[in-house]
Amino acid sequence: MALPTETVYGLAADATNGNAVAKIFEAKGRPRFNPLIVHVADIAAARKLGQFTQEAEKLAEEFWPGALTLVLGRQPDTAISDLVTAGLPTVAIRIPGHPVAQALLSACGKPLAAPSANRSGHISPTTANHVEADLSGQIDMILDGGPCEVGIESTVVDASEGQATLLRPGGVSAEAIASVLGRPKLRVVNSHSTESGLPKSPGQLASHYAPNARLRLNVTTPEPGEALLAFGPKVPAYSARMINLSETGDLREAAANLFAALRALDAADCRSIAVLHIPGEGLGEAINDRLLRAAAPRP
Ligand code: TXA
Ligand code: MG
Repeated sequence: MALPTETVYGLAADATNGNAVAKIFEAKGRPRFNPLIVHVADIAAARKLGQFTQEAEKLAEEFWPGALTLVLGRQPDTAISDLVTAGLPTVAIRIPGHPVAQALLSACGKPLAAPSANRSGHISPTTANHVEADLSGQIDMILDGGPCEVGIESTVVDASEGQATLLRPGGVSAEAIASVLGRPKLRVVNSHSTESGLPKSPGQLASHYAPNARLRLNVTTPEPGEALLAFGPKVPAYSARMINLSETGDLREAAANLFAALRALDAADCRSIAVLHIPGEGLGEAINDRLLRAAAPRP
């Protein structure tokens, strides 16, 4: 079943039922070695699954419910299927804040494994229609909770031991997390990352969030016939298909609009989408991460 969260729609199954979890991988066409996030209703349920370090406690207190996923040491006696954690000694846990997700989690009383509700490698869904476009025929139900408010996936933080590290930028900014932990900067753990926290080049990344059209990033002048993904008040004079992620230059608004905009420009059937520069701070880090992956060479 697909369910809305404040980040993106998830494709959910009972995390303790190996057969149900296997169906998620089938519907998405997702490689089995990629572990899933487990969603729970409250901190008591989270404690049953994961071992909370000091830093994990602080982050849970500040950001849950919300757009944060904590990777924690897995409790020895959980009923979570090994398929969910891909055999790792850790488990990724999130308490979503969306009222529909909360209601479902409370009603069923089970941890729900849920990756984003898209075919593996495609753009994540931020509306029920996006889910249907990608997975229709593969799933039996979509709970429609309207458009997702955050619009970009949760931030994944490894808080399983010692100092927490950033595994995936997302809906909670790395700056906000570092500040709660009393550190100037959050260490990024990603084999392709640089000092700035952004991957060095799209060529090094697995293609993901990929539209059919080619993406050109940090463009100042779009080429004739290109669609334009703009940001901010200063937009080049331009007549072809254009979407502005945020006319006021608000990164939150831009994150919320990003995936729907990529889908809409892709549907306009242009061979290429030119993307203006988007600043890298705050939610800009997650936006640039997704754009780099969308621009990466396809397998
Ligand atoms: O906002 C979100 O996070 C959405 C909503 C539905 O909650 N979910 C989502 O799930 O984006 P997914 O499966 O597309 O991404 C989960 C990420 C992957 O990058 C995966 O590798 C990582 O979390 N992950 C899951 N379990 C992990 C673990 N034990 N250790 C390290 N990374 C893990
Ligand atoms: Mg995903």
